[in-house]
Amino acid sequence: MNVIEVKNLTKVYGDIIAVNNISFNVRKGEIFSLLGPNGAGKTTTVEMLEMIRKPTSGEIKIFDSKTDIKENIGILPQKFQSFERLSVRETLKYFSSLYEKRIDIDELLNLIGLKEVEGIMYKNLSGGLKRRVGVAIALVNDPELIFLDEPTTGLDPAARRSLWEVIKNLKKRGKTIILTTHYMEEAQYLADRVAIMHRGKIIAMDEPHKLIERYGDKTKLIIKGADGNLKEILPSIKYSSSREAVMEIDDEGDIASIILQLKKGGIRYERIEIERANLEDVFLKLTGAKLRG
Ligand SMILES: Nc1ncnc2c1ncn2[C@@H]1O[C@H](COP(=O)(O)OP(=O)(O)O)[C@@H](O)[C@H]1O
Ligand SMILES: [Mg+2]
Repeated sequence: MNVIEVKNLTKVYGDIIAVNNISFNVRKGEIFSLLGPNGAGKTTTVEMLEMIRKPTSGEIKIFDSKTDIKENIGILPQKFQSFERLSVRETLKYFSSLYEKRIDIDELLNLIGLKEVEGIMYKNLSGGLKRRVGVAIALVNDPELIFLDEPTTGLDPAARRSLWEVIKNLKKRGKTIILTTHYMEEAQYLADRVAIMHRGKIIAMDEPHKLIERYGDKTKLIIKGADGNLKEILPSIKYSSSREAVMEIDDEGDIASIILQLKKGGIRYERIEIERANLEDVFLKLTGAKLRG
């Protein structure tokens, strides 16, 4: 079942086509990620879905025609900030008072991992906890559909990882999540499906592993510091230097038998690495540009 259906959606600002004729559906219960660099059109897209910005053209259908959209969505805006001098609990109480449908504040504090800091003022929280407050605000009305716009941008790696677990938990509770990000690891780790955006367009859309299979290079087995001629045992291997040899792998199930062959051939080595393509490689292949920088 689709929660969102988008058809030929376009947003123009003067000469800039921020969103250029994109179409996609989001299924109930999935994490759907819009992945792309700054300026790709992600925020403009989600803000049209959130009914904050008006499309220039195209169609958006959210839920069925009977459901009140604003009552049933939750939003974490990009670069979110909250009231500096309200405690976490006061903040959530305030935002929940704006809705008819409400989640219990204590349940929410526990769900997002904020129970221990409920009495602390927003301004005194770490960056990671501030962002958690933002996610909690998005949930005060117990929405079915949640928009998270760059939820982990600017956080340190540990805070990012722990927020990923919060987001996974929301999916486990049956929420549908639209996640925009420019971090490929984030989309790869969290998303059921990814739409890669570039200059206002969706240039590829699928499950992360399918995009990688389709556009990424083959998995490589890299053997470093081997003490014999690997070519005698593995004819298709190529030496990239005297100390390093690389072999493309068609089927990752073959890796164990390759390692066994090395052992039987009496070859010793310093280490073996397996290098798998990722969404960054997919983006590079499709656009010729790096996702970051
Ligand atoms: N209100 C606006 N007026 C003019 N241009 C805008 C406005 N909002 C966004 N843009 C432009 O639209 C493009 C897409 O922006 P945005 O949706 O914020 O991308 P992203 O979220 O992927 O970084 C950018 O070129 C941006 O400068
Ligand atoms: Mg943005």
